[in-house]
Amino acid sequence: MTRGLGKAETGPAIRNSESAMSRVFSGIQPSGVPTLGNYLGAIRNWVPLQDTHEAIYCVVDLHAITVWQDPKELARQTREMAAALIASGLDPDRCILFIQSHVQAHTRLAWIFNCVARLGWLNRMTQFKDKAGKDREAASSGLYVYPNLMAADIHTYHATLVPVGEDQKQHLELANDIGEKFNHDYGVDFFPRIEPLIQGVAARVMSLRDGTKKMSKSDPSDQSRINLTDDADAVALKIRRAKTDPEPLPGSEAGLEGRPEARNLVGILAAVTGTTPAEVLRDHGGKGFGAFKEVLAEALVAHLGPIQAEMKRLLADPAALDGLLRKGADRAEAIATPICEKAEELVGFLPRR
Ligand code: TYM
Repeated sequence: MTRGLGKAETGPAIRNSESAMSRVFSGIQPSGVPTLGNYLGAIRNWVPLQDTHEAIYCVVDLHAITVWQDPKELARQTREMAAALIASGLDPDRCILFIQSHVQAHTRLAWIFNCVARLGWLNRMTQFKDKAGKDREAASSGLYVYPNLMAADIHTYHATLVPVGEDQKQHLELANDIGEKFNHDYGVDFFPRIEPLIQGVAARVMSLRDGTKKMSKSDPSDQSRINLTDDADAVALKIRRAKTDPEPLPGSEAGLEGRPEARNLVGILAAVTGTTPAEVLRDHGGKGFGAFKEVLAEALVAHLGPIQAEMKRLLADPAALDGLLRKGADRAEAIATPICEKAEELVGFLPRR
């Protein structure tokens, strides 16, 4: 059996101990302002991985256009997302941060994966069903093959650890199916298995209007989410208006059963204060939601304030931000291109040179 590229062959090392570290990859769509869900469910978990792994993070503009994006808005939101990531603690010197469309390996490998993944597999993707809605015929073909591009994002770095929120689990299982089928079809052991990293009490932050729906940057109601850019008044108003039930908070987690809105708000407070739902309920059990919401709004404003200030500072100098992203793309490309080219060679494509 042909062996795949070893780590040492996949591009210049960015750390001395690189070979001992598994590679982390994750991405986020610039399809709106990052929400508290993105932040607590994903971005915040990306930060510590910079120090323990070779971490590669990407603003996935190719994924964003699987649904309509106004071109000017997309460009603005892409920069804004990059600024939000840096302001949340990603350091372009300690991780690789770049924009997906700047590294061609993603689309090249995605095409190969379009030919590896089976229609039956894609038909099972619940996110496609949710996003396409009732009028499936009108959905873009890009939305349908979205998970193949996501598999390419990860596999073109031979990344093995992928920190995400819970909603991405099915896509990562598919990425493993694709990697395995490629290995099997071409008789190689080239793409490694991927492990999802789904962490924390906020792996699934729910909508403020409906505790059974995830908080999403593309939800038509702005009241359903906290945006990372919301000012103190907006945060306070949205939390005050958040849907709840008439009962006071329970004293223990068992009392959250069947109360999705209460569970969500308790989970958010636990996440931003670095505690657990049990501790939140120990401190606030018995309180009505009016008083609890005040505590929650205050904690959110205190947590988000410094991130917003840093975002503002970064966005005031777009040329500097673009420079950081360009450097990130160069470093990403140095890893991704040789892996993509090796995959192309395995498929039987003639090399250009
Ligand atoms: P996206 O942009 O929808 O979301 C980015 C990250 O935020 C997480 N997330 C949430 N976590 C908790 N609660 C929520 N309400 C919530 N909403 C979003 C998501 O799970 C995700 O981790 N397909 C991906 C982007 C992507 C990607 C990749 C991820 C493209 N290529 C490769 C990992 C690896 C997405 O749409 O994320």
